[in-house]
Amino acid sequence: MVVSGLSGSFRVPTFARSRVRRPSPIPYRENMEQSRVHGFAVVAGAAGGIGMEVAFTLASAGARGILFGDTNYDGVANAARESKSLASNPTYQALSVKLNVTDPSSVKAMMDLAVKEFGRIDYFVNAVGVDVAEYVPFEETADDDYDRVLEINAKGSYLLSKAAVKVMKDQEPLQVHLGRHGIRDVGRGAIVHVCSAMAVGAVPWKAPYVASKHAMLGLTRACAMDCKPYDIRVNQVCPAWTKTPMYEEDCRRSPLTPQVVERLAARKRPMEAYEVAASCLYLCSPGAVSITGTSIMMDCGVTIGPVL
Ligand SMILES: NC(=O)c1ccc[n+]([C@@H]2O[C@H](COP(=O)([O-])OP(=O)(O)OC[C@H]3O[C@@H](n4cnc5c(N)ncnc54)[C@H](O)[C@@H]3O)[C@@H](O)[C@H]2O)c1
Repeated sequence: MVVSGLSGSFRVPTFARSRVRRPSPIPYRENMEQSRVHGFAVVAGAAGGIGMEVAFTLASAGARGILFGDTNYDGVANAARESKSLASNPTYQALSVKLNVTDPSSVKAMMDLAVKEFGRIDYFVNAVGVDVAEYVPFEETADDDYDRVLEINAKGSYLLSKAAVKVMKDQEPLQVHLGRHGIRDVGRGAIVHVCSAMAVGAVPWKAPYVASKHAMLGLTRACAMDCKPYDIRVNQVCPAWTKTPMYEEDCRRSPLTPQVVERLAARKRPMEAYEVAASCLYLCSPGAVSITGTSIMMDCGVTIGPVL
C-alpha cells in the first residue's frame, strides 16, 4: 500500500489478512472528556474576533449553555444564533445580552441573567478589549485615551472577574464524569481573560494598551490568589497578532504590520482566532483543573528573542 503525505509517498508493508490485528476501537467521548467542557459559560466580547471563536469552541466542546455579551448587541445576537448549529450538547442553550464592561450595573445584569437562565456559571471568558485611538510616542499620549483604554481593558477585567467570582463562590462544585477516571469534582468555576503578549512586553506608540495588559496580568494573579480557597481558577491567555477586526485595523493604521509579523512570528503569519480559543478551552477544561494564576503565552515565539 502507498501512503501519500505532504513530503511525498512511501510504501507501507502489507500483511496477510489473518495476521493483521486491528486495535480495539477506543470510544471517542471516553477518551476526550477531560478536554471538553461540561457546564454553562458566559463569554464577554463575543460579538466577533477572539471572543466569538471562544464561544463557538466552547459550544462545540460540550457547553450546556452560553451567554454571549458585548456592546455590539446585533453581533452577539447573531453569534448566539450561529452557535446553535455548532453545539455538541443536545440540550445546548444560547442567549445574548448587551454589555458595557465599564458599567458595573451592566456587568451585574449579565451575570444575573446567566444565573436566572442557567442556574450557575461554570466558565467565564473575558475577550473584551480595545486598542489606543492613535499610535503616538509616549509623551504625546492623550490623557483621555489613556483613561478610556485602561477603563475598558483593565477596570473592565476587574469588574467582570469580581462579578463572576461572586456567583461562582456560592455555587456547588461541578461534578464531571471523566470516563474511566470516574466522577471528579472540577471546582466551582474557571475564569479566563484574553490578555496579550503585551502583559510582559511593549511595542512602540501604544502606552495605554501596554499598561492595561500589564494591569490585567496583576489582576489575574491577585484574583487567582484570593480565589484559591473557593476552588475557582483564574488564568489568562496572552496572544500576539491574531486575525480579527482589531488586527485588521492595526494593519490599516500600520501597513508594515504583515511584514513585521512575517519576520518575527515563528509561523510567519498572525494567529487564527480559533487557535487562541483552543487555549481558552483548555484552561476551562477538567484537564487544567490544577492550573490557576498562570498565563499561556501565545506570542508566536516573539518574547524569547529574535532569530539572528
Ligand atoms: N487581535 C489581536 O491581534 C490581539 C492580540 C493580542 C491580544 N488581543 C486581545 O484579545 C482580546 C480580543 O480582541 P479581538 O482581536 O478579538 O478584538 P475585537 O475588536 O475583534 O473584539 C473585541 C470585542 O470587545 C467588544 N467591546 C469593546 N468595548 C466593549 C465594552 N466596553 N463592553 C463590552 N464589549 C466591548 C467589541 O465590541 C468587540 O466585539 C482583546 O483584549 C485584545 O486586546 C488581540
